[in-house]
Amino acid sequence: MCGIVGYIGHRKAQDILVEGLKRLEYRGYDSAGVCAVADGALVTAKCPGRIANLEERLAEVPAIGQATLGIAHTRWATHGSPTEANAHPHLSDDGRIALVHNGIIENYLPLKQWLQSKGRTFASQTDSEVLSNLIAEFYASSGDFVEAVRTALHEVTGTYGIAVLCRDEPDRIVAARRGSPLIVGIGQDEYIIASDASAIVAHTANVVYLHDNEMAVIDGDQMRTITIDNVPTTREVELIEYSLEEIALDGFDHFMLKEIFEQPQSIRDCLRGRLNMRESRVQLGGIESVARELVKTRRFIFTACGTAWHAGLIGEFLFEDLARIPAETEYASEFRYRNPIIEDGTAVIAISQSGETADTLAALREARDKGALALGIVNAVGSTIARETDAGVYLHAGPEIGVASTKAFTCQVAVETMLALYLGRRKFMSQEIMTRFMEALAAIPGQIETVLAQSDMIRDVVSRVADRENWLFLGRGYNYPVALEGALKLKEISYIHAEGLPAAEMKHGPIALIHKGMPVVFIAPRCGVYDKIISNIEEVRARGGYVIAVATEGNKEIRRYADAVFYVPDCPQALQPLLTVIPLQLLAYQAAVLRGCNVDKPRNLAKSVTVE
Ligand code: F6R
Repeated sequence: MCGIVGYIGHRKAQDILVEGLKRLEYRGYDSAGVCAVADGALVTAKCPGRIANLEERLAEVPAIGQATLGIAHTRWATHGSPTEANAHPHLSDDGRIALVHNGIIENYLPLKQWLQSKGRTFASQTDSEVLSNLIAEFYASSGDFVEAVRTALHEVTGTYGIAVLCRDEPDRIVAARRGSPLIVGIGQDEYIIASDASAIVAHTANVVYLHDNEMAVIDGDQMRTITIDNVPTTREVELIEYSLEEIALDGFDHFMLKEIFEQPQSIRDCLRGRLNMRESRVQLGGIESVARELVKTRRFIFTACGTAWHAGLIGEFLFEDLARIPAETEYASEFRYRNPIIEDGTAVIAISQSGETADTLAALREARDKGALALGIVNAVGSTIARETDAGVYLHAGPEIGVASTKAFTCQVAVETMLALYLGRRKFMSQEIMTRFMEALAAIPGQIETVLAQSDMIRDVVSRVADRENWLFLGRGYNYPVALEGALKLKEISYIHAEGLPAAEMKHGPIALIHKGMPVVFIAPRCGVYDKIISNIEEVRARGGYVIAVATEGNKEIRRYADAVFYVPDCPQALQPLLTVIPLQLLAYQAAVLRGCNVDKPRNLAKSVTVE
């Protein structure tokens, strides 16, 4: 979603800002801009489209190139279309304040009317411009920049991560956050503000994560943090855990492909140190503090969005199957608004790659306020969801740059499996069965490698049907959420319409869609209902559908029913999603490439959805 970069130091700000914006491109955006103080004025360059357009625009504004302090932004349109006027930074009408903003100012309309009654004028349709004018209004009466930002933030409802400049205080940046991440990187006599660590990591690994309702006031080479109530705070300097190499393409054409191929390693990293084979125990340091409570938990609710929600659905199966504890999965966006019933002994598990998804965060807060034990399965270390949970387990998947989530999904499922085994073993699971599962889980990375080896064959199959506009994905049991995930992957990056369903549901309506040549993907590995899936395949074949099956290695019989087969190695049913999803990720990727789509920056999508 939107991205913020700010710089104050001894180097040319423009280079660092533009490079930072490029590193944030993966988050999704449709316009960009930069502002710096030059010759006693706030000078901006902004435009719709890509960063390359902004660089052309910057070439026409040499004053910005000289500045050693500035702010920059990539905007993902919410209020108003992606035009130059709506792009950030937004200047106040008197030219004294410039601001970049992530999040949504919910009460922007009454604030705008109030400011208009004071004679303020507006050049854009955005909620963000209201905030720059509001700060300017308070600055006009107090003459105190920091105080003006503080006062304005008290008037705002909604979410924000902001970086603000004042024309009259050219050596100062003020930053603040509520509900939208903001990090300050601390370099050698310089500070880099960003909404995402990837914009900082090239310059320093030392960062301070701002908390909600907190401000950073950076003057030249000094920074202090205060709450918006003006209480000084002390923040520890933390280390960014990943390096620049991890966010490079490494010879792959796209981040999505790189991340698909990273999965053997990301799952190994996720499992590392957590499977104690000698004692037949899963050890998860992040939940030790709540271990007793966990074992007594009577009901688990997974809450998440999108792909993470699909991982939650698999978690539901895993917890009920391996730990025999009732579990359910809720869309975070629905859960938060429907006054959920949280009884004693309920634990809520928020699943999130970014740890910043607004709906998931709000659902977590709702559950915690109602007394649930709040747990997280999160990738981004130090993210808001990770900080706001009572306990949790990190994925250790490394940074996920591709907008379509792949390696985070499989690591989410791997963590859920470990949690289910952890609970199952403490309740009833025998040491023998536990050992068998742990060994099978440890073998998954190697098995994924054998699935990845089919990449070229998958491309050939997809090339036969990549022009079809409607696809179905069908699976049962553990593989039903995989069908949903396969359909989501395909639609989000190739813009093909795809639906995922439990296979047996097809005959209750969707079968009407089947026509000659329509691709139908069956996730059909060895399982208790395999014969029933074969009957579903027959039903599709009888209507001329083009059947692609994901089947267990060695199953030659299925070739009689399917037009194409992708094989996965045999493993316990509970672990199948970790393997069966891999060919579907490759299928979606190849379809998108064949259709000429921008795989890593699909239209309208953002990597981290920090608005409702
Ligand atoms: C799809 C995808 C999204 C995310 C969803 C939640 O490929 O990436 O559906 O899974 O927006 O994001 P996180 O996991 O960051 O909370």
